Amino acid sequence: MAMEMQAPKGTKDMLPQDAYKWQYIEGVFREVAKTYGIREIRTPMFEHTELFLRGVGDTTDIVQKEMYTFKDKGDRSVTLKPEGTSPVVRSFVESRLFNEAQPTKLCYITPAFRYENVQKGRLRQFHQCGVEVFGSKEPSMDAEVIAVAMDTLKKLGLKSLSLHINNLGCPNCRPKYNEALKKFLAENYDGLCDTCKSRFEKNPMRILDCKEKKCNEITKNAPIILDYMCEECDSHFAKVKEYLDILEIPYEIDPGIVRGLDYYTKTIFEIVTPDFTVCGGGRYDKLIEELGGPDMPAVGFAIGIERLIMTLEKEGIEIPNETLFDLYIGARGEEERKAAFKLASQLRPLGVKCEINHMGRSVKAEMKYANKLGCTFTTIIGEDELSNKKINLKRMSDGEIFEVSLENIEEIAKSVK
Ligand code: HAM
Repeated sequence: MAMEMQAPKGTKDMLPQDAYKWQYIEGVFREVAKTYGIREIRTPMFEHTELFLRGVGDTTDIVQKEMYTFKDKGDRSVTLKPEGTSPVVRSFVESRLFNEAQPTKLCYITPAFRYENVQKGRLRQFHQCGVEVFGSKEPSMDAEVIAVAMDTLKKLGLKSLSLHINNLGCPNCRPKYNEALKKFLAENYDGLCDTCKSRFEKNPMRILDCKEKKCNEITKNAPIILDYMCEECDSHFAKVKEYLDILEIPYEIDPGIVRGLDYYTKTIFEIVTPDFTVCGGGRYDKLIEELGGPDMPAVGFAIGIERLIMTLEKEGIEIPNETLFDLYIGARGEEERKAAFKLASQLRPLGVKCEINHMGRSVKAEMKYANKLGCTFTTIIGEDELSNKKINLKRMSDGEIFEVSLENIEEIAKSVK
């Protein structure tokens, strides 16, 4: 045998035995999104690198360290999408959807790629289901977007979640805060880690998010943005909280969350478990304009599907698994095999999930196999069944037998579903 190949580090196959979990989660997300009139958008897996430099921000970890960027054969720099928001904004602007009646409510389920240190809940290819809503500056929309995420996670049965919110201010008030923060940090500059030293000039708020202990020690007494907000940001935040109260969604105000992407303004939020952040999002009122569109507000989130699945497993939540086959149709001889083949082809258009013998198994081995697959019913076509045009459907759960006419396809379908 040739050498066995392995999947690249930080990637995972979705194996057939797990497919139902993904389908179920995606189905729940799509259903919830529909109740808000959110429609799906799909954008390419790669974009011009420039989009992420401008969208995500060139001082972020994502852009500086984590992007899968390469030159294509036409010598263009392209990047596998590290997140879903910038491509959706690019597409919104390019397709001039801003000319339609607003708001525009969009959702997506997409792989995303980041060259990260692989660890629990941190992959190099992962998947997000996200929502982006354009055109509304109302605080009710921030709360509605948070509600879409919460509805999805709750419908899946998750309990160990808490919602953390913060406000990052706007171009009016953030510079004042950055000044105050820099003044504070300047006094402790020497104690910061090297990464934070490099963040000091261009992106001091990211220092609040550093995982290094020595930086945490310094920043725990740092000024907080909530004390520097302008009147508009202040009243926006107060209203978002009111709307969350109306929805009875509990939240914690957490001045420590700053998010790892540059585009945010005003509300930001994270839905966290004891292990990690499952969902992150917020308002980004300047991004559409920065990417060449009109001055138009926006708010959205993305849930990490792998982290979601890990959390479901940790909480012991079983995702319903559909039966693979309603009916296994066994056969004794060549003619009977053809009859089984034909019968399956007649039942499938009626929605019956059925299987026949493609492996040359003996009838006994067939039944063993059908049992292993967990088929709901089995039947065996033999000479007698063919001449009498009657078959016995055996219900595997209790062994009960139902005799049906081989010619009445609808009755067979009804009996096994
Ligand atoms: P983000 O916080 O970078 O935000 O990612 C959102 C979620 O994706 C995270 O909470 C996490 O569950 C998952 N995730 C991120 N990186 C990884 C990784 N390396 N491995 C596994 N899961 C990961 C965004 O991407 C924004 N685009 C969210 C947004 C939408 N903001 C506004 N609209």
